[in-house]
Amino acid sequence: MAILDCKAAWKAIETYRPKRLTELFEGDGGRVNRFSRDVAAIHFDWSKTHLDDDLLGSFAGLAYMADYHGARDCLFAGDIVNFSENRPATHVAERGQGKPEDNRLAAERHARMRSLVDAIEGGAFGEIDSILHIGIGGSALGPDLVIDALGRDADRFEVRVLANIDGEAFDEATWGLDPASTLVVAVSKTFTTTETLSNLDAALEWLREAGVADPHGQVIAVTAAPDKAVAYGIDETRVLPFGEGVGGRYSLWSSVGLSIALALGWGAFEELLEGAAEMDRHVKLTDGAANVALLAAFADLFYTQNRRSQSRGVFAYDERLRLLPDYLQQLEMESNGKSVTGEGKPLRRPSAPVTWGGVGTDAQHAVFQLLHQGTTAIPVEFVAVIENEDSLDPRHHQLLLANCFAQGAALMAGREQQDLARAYPGDRASTTVLLQRLDPRSLGALIAFYEHRTFANAVLLGINPFDQFGVELGKEMARALDDPKGREKLDPSTRNLIERAGL
Ligand code: F6P
Repeated sequence: MAILDCKAAWKAIETYRPKRLTELFEGDGGRVNRFSRDVAAIHFDWSKTHLDDDLLGSFAGLAYMADYHGARDCLFAGDIVNFSENRPATHVAERGQGKPEDNRLAAERHARMRSLVDAIEGGAFGEIDSILHIGIGGSALGPDLVIDALGRDADRFEVRVLANIDGEAFDEATWGLDPASTLVVAVSKTFTTTETLSNLDAALEWLREAGVADPHGQVIAVTAAPDKAVAYGIDETRVLPFGEGVGGRYSLWSSVGLSIALALGWGAFEELLEGAAEMDRHVKLTDGAANVALLAAFADLFYTQNRRSQSRGVFAYDERLRLLPDYLQQLEMESNGKSVTGEGKPLRRPSAPVTWGGVGTDAQHAVFQLLHQGTTAIPVEFVAVIENEDSLDPRHHQLLLANCFAQGAALMAGREQQDLARAYPGDRASTTVLLQRLDPRSLGALIAFYEHRTFANAVLLGINPFDQFGVELGKEMARALDDPKGREKLDPSTRNLIERAGL
């Protein structure tokens, strides 16, 4: 069928009835190869999804009509892709893969960041042994993921990440730290976020109470609004700026990654960027289903648009990647949880599903029951690492991987039984992402893959992944609670809760 427009392509995708997964493998010895890709030492396997050649044809038509390749080229060219805010999205420039002028600016900022890392390491801030990283959302999740994944054995600064405004989080993050040897890194793109500024106030108080003579002097601010950080009282020599075009959830590559560089060393930070750049180059130069970001989006969209799946599960079979689902929740849901198109019209189809997940094998004993036998089929993504670095006998890691692969096989094969309670319907899809090893380079490539996949999904859906107006109303209402007049306008249930809590 010739695909005439997006509507026709969507219709073909929505109404298509593929064979069962096990049937797709029958008599097709090439399926694994055709639906697997190797990029940047990461192996991706989509063969256990329902994608087949007909679907690939329909999706290729959709990608053509939605001009995915043109949109991708605009992203890398530094053109405006965030139409509602009239901005480019320059995170690729942080990896040296954007427009030359943006790359140059990013490199200059990295040079400043590096000097600061050198200065801290060289003792310019005294005997610093710990970093209190304060930030929330995109100003915390990326650094937290990378440091948790790669910083375990690093004999460097201890980094604690503080996001929540809850004082319990503050107490936990500062527990056991010596204020005199702790450097505070306050990260906020806008430098207006209530949680971050309140936590920064609390951190300054914590330093002051411990007798630190110049608490502000022990703070570094990372922001796209340097004037606001200076107005807050941070000396401009300790304000690291980053560009307005770098979205919060795409920002770990910028100065926002200062804590990463401190935790892992500058060399590791550069390798992280280089791994991301390798994925960028693949995405930039590869068209159609050979492009892993686009192929991933094809599979994602089959499940949301055809099977109407409302969630997707991501399970890291590697303890070091335990924060990956949290990170992806923001990346995918804040980017693509939209109900308007980029042109401001109502979106007539499901946008992003709920991203959720956990760690294998723990999750097998908690939530996999529903994945195997629940009434809704949820596409699952397994992320695993071939080479282990733990202290145990390699057999331990082999068992971990065997469990991971067995789950994918069982979801697909199912099992018929007379006793329905013991039967598995099977035909449940999974994708496997297999890293050869977990190091800064491969993690950089993996995260960049998820960014590009999110972008590809957005382009095919016709939405803007780079704004997040949906988070504003709750913030506004929280501010209204401070004002008695604002409270009067609230609904009775909320007013009652406020009264009960004595606010
Ligand atoms: O409220 C959502 C959000 O704006 C995210 O997009 C962002 O990552 C987070 O808050 C933190 O914002 P900021 O970096 O400006 O403090």
